[in-house]
Parts: sequence; structure tokens; C-alpha cells
Amino acid sequence: MNKHFTNPRAKNNFVGRTCSIAGVGSYVPDKILTNADLEKMVETTDEWITSRTGIKERRIAAANEFTSDLATKAAERAMKMAGVTAEQIDLIIVATLTPDMPCPSTACFVQHKIGAARAAAFDIGAACSGFIYALEVGQQFILSRTYETVLVIGAEKLSSIVNWTDRNTCVLFGDGAGAAILQHRENSHGLLTAVMGADGNKADLLSVPGGGSKCPATPESVSAGMHYLRMDGKETFKNAVNAMVSAANEAMRRCDIDITKIKCVIPHQANQRIIDAVGDRLKTTPEQLFVNLHKYGNTSAASVAIALDEAVNSGKISRGDLILLVVFGAGLTWGAAVIEW
Ligand code: UT7
Repeated sequence: MNKHFTNPRAKNNFVGRTCSIAGVGSYVPDKILTNADLEKMVETTDEWITSRTGIKERRIAAANEFTSDLATKAAERAMKMAGVTAEQIDLIIVATLTPDMPCPSTACFVQHKIGAARAAAFDIGAACSGFIYALEVGQQFILSRTYETVLVIGAEKLSSIVNWTDRNTCVLFGDGAGAAILQHRENSHGLLTAVMGADGNKADLLSVPGGGSKCPATPESVSAGMHYLRMDGKETFKNAVNAMVSAANEAMRRCDIDITKIKCVIPHQANQRIIDAVGDRLKTTPEQLFVNLHKYGNTSAASVAIALDEAVNSGKISRGDLILLVVFGAGLTWGAAVIEW
């Protein structure tokens, strides 16, 4: 086994047990919405969107294509790569802020659609940080020998909660899903550590205020647009950079490594300027930083999951490489994970 880092898990009781990602997969809808298309919808320009965010286009799900459909397609690709059948899956965790409906969980719809009849299923709500939260939760079941195979998915149909008349937010988001199969693997450390954090005091910076128990859907709440996503972009930006940098540093510190040992850094894809600021402060090289934001915009919980799949399938990451995922989102929430791929 690689000895260029410390495995923080060795300090706990999970002796001889690791949690690796056996397969990844992603799916984005076919429909592309470009910046030029948005110029016809709201008072904006391709120049503004590109220079302030780095986004050129995003994918939009069809009216009859739900978060669980995107999640299912990503899951089937991850299962294929891992060589795992639906019957083998013990648990399905879906990270999403755009579930098919408030109840039941989107994970239950995915369970049915992939035919994983044995699997337990539940959703996690940690907004854009959801995929790392879900990885960390899923890992606990593998390390404790409770389950052998866990399917973790980040999936969003953000187009369903975007106010398409608000230029401050509608240019930023897109739809998609990414999935990973977690299993114990011999001779691999797998997921070495995951830092998770939250600050509920700043919940107002990014939220969907309506549709829950605080503000149930009524004709008034809908006409006031309470069911749309709202964001204080500037404050969110500042918090994102600080939280992502400190989470990434903490994750590397736990493994006794510095940034030079990381083959690929996969940051949450919200804004190119956030990615650049995080990269500057972590002292990454341009080759280390993975970016696909220009193609998909911010896909929230799906963001790093899609990026991980693309990094793996483009050959940017090989087995044995160390990778760093780092995320930030509503809550506020944040996280970072070091993985021996
Ligand atoms: O995934 C969770 C985490 N999400 C994030 O981390 C997102 C964080 N925030 C951001 O990415 C950026 O703050 C934004 C991209 C949302 C905004 O960029 P900014 O540099 O912070 O711009 P701003 O909010 O300060 O707005 C600057 C100006 C405003 O006009 P005035 O008030 O200066 O006249 C906006 O009205 O740009 C205007 N503006 C636009 N103009 C053209 C805002 N949106 C648009 C637009 N097109 N789409």
C-alpha cells in the first residue's frame, strides 16, 4: 500500500476495512441552454456571464424528466463501471435539494427504477455539499461491515426551482447527476478522510424559503416566488472561498500531505472566480484543478460527482492517485475529502 500519506482511519476500529469508489457515472440532460439563449430571456449578456462566472452553457432536464431519472441514469453507469448488479446494492443515498417531491425520498424512486429491491434508501440534504456528506455517511456503513455495496448519488433538477425572470440566479444553475459505488477493496485506502462543516447562522444567504413547514405552499407564497432559490451572491462567494480552503487544508493535514501530493483537485463548480481563488490559496497548478463549469454551470449536489466521473473517464486520474474533492453550499455547508483513487 502507498506509504506517502497517513490513513486517518487506521486510528479507529475499522481494522482491515477500507471504502473505495469501485465505479463512477454521470448523466446530464440533452437540452443545452447557452448564454446566448439567456440573453433572450433576461437582461444579461454572454460577456457578463462568462467574465463573472465562467459559465458558457448549462443542461436543462425535460418537463417529464425528474431528479430521480437523472440519478438513475448516472447510477446505472456507475454500476456498469463497478460491475455491480442492482441486487448487490445494500443502500442508496441521494444527495439533492431538488427531490422529485417532498415525500417520499428520491432515493426510493431510484431504488425502484434501478430494481435494487434489497436496498435501503434515503436522501441527504446538504445542498451543494451533499455529495461529500453522502460519501462520508455511505462510507460508515462499509467500514463498519454493515453493508458491502453502497450507491451514492448527487442529483439535481435545479431548473425546477430557478426563477427564470431573475438574472441574479437564473444564469448560474443547471441540471445533472453523478453517482459512485462504494465497496471495500483490498490493497487500497480509498476514502481517506472527509471533513464536513456547517454554519446555520448564515442560512439566509442561500435558500428556498417556501414549500416547507415554515412557509407551506399557498397561492400567496407561490405568487410571492417563495418556492424559488434565492442567493446573496457576494456574501456567499466570500464564505465559499474561506470555507473551501480551510476544509481542504484540514483534510490534507489529517493525511499528513500537502497539495503537491494531490494529482487532481475537484472543487465545487459554482464560479470560475471561486475556483481560481481556492486554487491560488491552496497553491494548485492549473493541471491539478479540474473544471467543467463552463459546460454545466452549478449543478449543486451533482457538481463534484459529475466532475469526478469526467476526470476519471478522461484519464486524468489513475488508480493509486490521491484526489481532493472540496465543496460548499447552502446551510451554509462545506466539506473536503481526500481519496486514494
Ligand atoms: O453553489 C453554492 C455556492 N454558490 C456560490 O458560491 C455562488 C457565489 N456567488 C457568485 O458566484 C457571484 O457572487 C455571482 C456570480 C452570483 C455574482 O457576481 P458578483 O461579482 O458578486 O456580482 P454582483 O452580485 O455584485 O452584481 C454586480 C452587478 C449588479 O449590478 P449593479 O447593482 O452593480 O448595478 C447586478 O445587478 O451585476 C448585475 N448582475 C447582472 N448583470 C448582467 C447580476 N446578474 C447579472 C446578469 N447579467 N446575469
